[in-house]
Amino acid sequence: MRLDKWLSNSGIGSRKEVKKLLKTGAVTVNGKVIKDPKQHVQPDTDEVMLFDEPVQYREFIYLLMNKPAGVISATEDKRDETVIDLLDDTHKHFDPHPVGRLDKDTEGLLLLTNDGQLSHALLSPKHHVPKTYFARILGHVNEEDVAAFQEGVTLEDGYHTKPGELVILSAGPESEIELTITEGKFHQVKRMFQAVDKEVLYLKRLSMGSLALDEELELGEYRELTEEELDGLKGN
Ligand code: URA
Repeated sequence: MRLDKWLSNSGIGSRKEVKKLLKTGAVTVNGKVIKDPKQHVQPDTDEVMLFDEPVQYREFIYLLMNKPAGVISATEDKRDETVIDLLDDTHKHFDPHPVGRLDKDTEGLLLLTNDGQLSHALLSPKHHVPKTYFARILGHVNEEDVAAFQEGVTLEDGYHTKPGELVILSAGPESEIELTITEGKFHQVKRMFQAVDKEVLYLKRLSMGSLALDEELELGEYRELTEEELDGLKGN
């Protein structure tokens, strides 16, 4: 791996900042000052020091974002801004990807990581990881809907969903609900409400497995997971 990538993966700074730092001669590899950002280093065996302090290499990054509406849950898009565009360079160069998709108009919890194994475990249909959403619904959500969701509902393409746990927070011409589902079919929450003749007006994901949205994060903001959060997710 290139020395500049190693250093920025260790949280020292962006690739640009790291290059400047290298020019000052602050970095040694196995005791030798190295100024070339392209120098190759072996993560397991080489000893990299910055100002005479050893640098710990970090391979994975785990970010919890409060996704705003209007951005796409993808790594690239020709037209629209993506969640990756919202990241600082220091996080971007880890090449994280969103774990699962939220629709462009959906807000809330989105995990981003470059840990493919964790991402796979969380998304695998075998693991039934629960996801809880808050939604505002056009229509009077009632106990019949709660019962229907408990049985699973048939979507317009004939797919019968797994049971969903629907909690009515307020009911009226517009209702507020929380729904927990263990699948992640395309537009699933919106289509489940369509199946009971209602429409999702606003959708926000509150949790995924043990990981909950941090309400301190403004829309578009993100932070790294705490160790407890990461342990919780890995135990899922
Ligand atoms: N269900 C939806 O309909 N949209 C989302 O973004 C997530 C779940």
